[in-house]
Amino acid sequence: MTVSLGLPTIPRRLAEGETAAAGGALPPRPGSDSAPGLLDRFGRTATDLRVSLTDRCNLRCTYCMPADGLPWLPKDQALSADEIVRLVSVGVRDLGVRQVRFTGGEPLLRADLVDIVRRVAALEPRPDISLTTNAIGLAQRARALADAGLDRINVSLDSLHAETFETLTRRPFLDKVLAGVDAAAAAGLTPIKINAVLLPGVNDHEAADLLAWSLDRGHELRFIEQMPLDADRTWHRASFVTADDIRGRLAERFVLSPHAAPRDGAPAERFDAVGLGAESHLVGTVGIIASVSEPFCGDCRRTRLTAEGGVRSCLFGDAETGLRDPLRAGASDAELADLWRGAMWAKPASHGIDRDDFVQPVRTMSAIGG
Ligand code: GTP
Ligand code: 5AD
Ligand code: SF4
Repeated sequence: MTVSLGLPTIPRRLAEGETAAAGGALPPRPGSDSAPGLLDRFGRTATDLRVSLTDRCNLRCTYCMPADGLPWLPKDQALSADEIVRLVSVGVRDLGVRQVRFTGGEPLLRADLVDIVRRVAALEPRPDISLTTNAIGLAQRARALADAGLDRINVSLDSLHAETFETLTRRPFLDKVLAGVDAAAAAGLTPIKINAVLLPGVNDHEAADLLAWSLDRGHELRFIEQMPLDADRTWHRASFVTADDIRGRLAERFVLSPHAAPRDGAPAERFDAVGLGAESHLVGTVGIIASVSEPFCGDCRRTRLTAEGGVRSCLFGDAETGLRDPLRAGASDAELADLWRGAMWAKPASHGIDRDDFVQPVRTMSAIGG
């Protein structure tokens, strides 16, 4: 199946015919007095910071990592807890960041995660703090994370069947994930969002089961279209499960209607879901993150920090602005903020997966931060 993709609607400030992907000289960024935040030349302002705490992971999801893992970042090249807190504080205090999400790889693999959360929760103004995790080991740490100031979590869970879970993640850990989700709910890390990626012929038949399971527990499920961010480079535009496919699968057991609250720049388009027949007691919302077939780049408010301190303005595209080396060389907060502003000014208009000249980024999702 082929999808045709439109460019996002965004406040356009480039000359007619010029696109971000075309490269070329950037128009000058306004001075930091008139545009203090993380503005880009299309008029978007990033307020949502996603910090990858590590590129390591204890799963090997087929749509992300190769079976043998990847060459991990040497420890001295990854940011320390002090460096992470310093950069997040520059984002929060000087650049208008209001939401901080910790991602990986698998962020629970950082032994100092609780300490990092506690220190970020002490920043003024206090940001909303969330974690995207595979939930392995969360059962043991959910309470400490909540006590440290973590507000909520998003958990990756693609299958409720142990065998399919193992096929997808190459690890037999479904029970640990389910225990982690329960512990997070008990610790009040809510609303809990479950992220599911569907692969054709592997777990796409589980769409309605995953929704029933999530609604039953009061969690919000979001389906994420598979994106070309895998190490094995198996993604193909003709064979991923689209938002349309997902809505079709869900319609067999649920009535979906557009959710009333404004989307407000979020990746997920939300629907109210009501179960049919024996499942009519199941009521709640479900989100679909249609990054490929219905891109939302025009409303993007995200800026990213990789585990080695590179600013990425977009999941896609290989451009990164390193903050770690200037930080280690003694750069001031103002200098770091300026470098960060410059990186975001160059943010591309869209990921361009629909263009013939699209090139998959060198980094996988695990090394960028989801
Ligand atoms: P909340 O709704 O605030 O919980 O955040 P979120 O939806 O951003 O949460 P999460 O980190 O779990 O993101 C869900 C998924 O959306 C990510 O894992 C990505 O697959 C996808 N996503 C997030 N940001 C982007 C983006 O900038 N571009 C694209 N194409 N996909 C994104
Ligand atoms: N396409 C879509 N989502 C992906 N994730 C990881 N790799 C991909 C991909 N290629 C998701 C995971 C997790 C989040 C961090 O990103 O399922 O929920
Ligand atoms: Fe690990 Fe997340 Fe990649 Fe799965 S998607 S291998 S859990 S980083």
